[in-house]
Amino acid sequence: MGRWSSQPSEQHHQAKKAAIPGPFGLPIVGLLFVFTGSLTHRLLAKLSQSCKALLLMAFCAGFTRFTISSQPDTAKEILNSSAFADRPIKESAYELFHRAMGFDPYGVYWRNLRRISATHLFCPKSIASFGAFRREIGNKMIGEIKGLMCVKGQVEIKRVLHFGSLNNVMMSVFGKTYDFDQNGSQAHELEELVSEGYELLGILNWSDLFLKKNLNWSDHFPILGLLDLQGVRKRCRNLASKVNIGTDTVAILLEWILAGMAFSDLDHPHLPYLLAIIKETIRMHPPGPLLSWARLAIHDVHIGENFIPAGTTAMVNMWAITHDEKIWSEPNEFKPERFLDEEVSIMGSDLRLAPFGSGRRVCPGKAMGIATVQLWLAQLLQSFNWVPSDNGVVDLSECLKLSLEMKKPLVCKAVYRVRC
Ligand code: HEM
Repeated sequence: MGRWSSQPSEQHHQAKKAAIPGPFGLPIVGLLFVFTGSLTHRLLAKLSQSCKALLLMAFCAGFTRFTISSQPDTAKEILNSSAFADRPIKESAYELFHRAMGFDPYGVYWRNLRRISATHLFCPKSIASFGAFRREIGNKMIGEIKGLMCVKGQVEIKRVLHFGSLNNVMMSVFGKTYDFDQNGSQAHELEELVSEGYELLGILNWSDLFLKKNLNWSDHFPILGLLDLQGVRKRCRNLASKVNIGTDTVAILLEWILAGMAFSDLDHPHLPYLLAIIKETIRMHPPGPLLSWARLAIHDVHIGENFIPAGTTAMVNMWAITHDEKIWSEPNEFKPERFLDEEVSIMGSDLRLAPFGSGRRVCPGKAMGIATVQLWLAQLLQSFNWVPSDNGVVDLSECLKLSLEMKKPLVCKAVYRVRC
């Protein structure tokens, strides 16, 4: 069971048949191994290239049939097709979020959630109305960083950013705020719950199969689900009973940006350059390199001339697209200037760089996410000069969980710019 047959079912016999290229995997497990490492996006990009399957590649993992695109036009066709408006069922997501928008099946309930949140949470007026609050969180982060620098002489920024980001979501959605200094408090418990939720959801990068409970085998071998050998369901139920988890992508993106800043001698970048830095970081380290949440074919459908049967999980390899040298010159170089020369929208219309996805299930928090990243980055750069810690090392290795995180959390020095 490696590459799946792309032959159409009975009613499609008349339709044009074209076999989707793809690697032959191992019997039964297929290509399950690609999901067991922390660099799945890079491995899939290599496979798509070696199989000459950038447009579409087909493969199986256990009983799950996958197709993945590493090319903007095909990616757009998939993400914007109503046939792919559903999400595949994932046990951890079901246990944690089965009534939440991101994992809800395409239908009336999901449509209502989208509509209500678009009107009350993600509309420009709401985003603007939380501006002062976002700034206040930014100032609290600055205070926290100053304190950490006094005590330790360096700062592990991830924790500060996660806390700020969590606070932002909790305030925007539930009207609740937390303080950094509430040690051992509800706030820190919440932060740990979010981290655990991310771990449970991030099936694509999980490495140590049984011991670390990483890859949830029952997602691909349903019979194993009855047994819950890895205890994923148990952990999810414990977690879901405690909290509904917000999103952490903003913190992860900012950590990547600051890692890049530690090597740069930028003083006070002007707004267009700040935006260009954000876009270039997103291009190099797209927070959802496989767009995090895959799509499920609701019914049989054609993508180009290729037949995709109902029930296929479709993915877009955004990382492969943003590192394709036919699309981006010198794709492995950090060159924010490229976005000064050419206006590239990152909101989903241009699939060369679509970190928020596209189509019906595009990220509804995209405007809020970008507004937050932009403001906090400006505040953090205005207040501090970011330099490597004493060992001079900033390790840019990646680790794919639900989002693409830094393998080693960034530890650097934040040198305060203004002296009192
Ligand atoms: C830098 C920040 C962010 C990035 C890179 C990001 C990325 C994504 C991506 C790639 C998707 C899947 C889109 C698709 O399937 O086409 C998504 C969906 C989603 N995002 Fe975001 N996101 C960010 C911030 C946020 C924020 C701040 C919120 C809310 C406070 C949010 C809420 C959601 C929800 C609810 C969905 C599911 C939508 C659905 O299935 O209908 N995101 N996001």
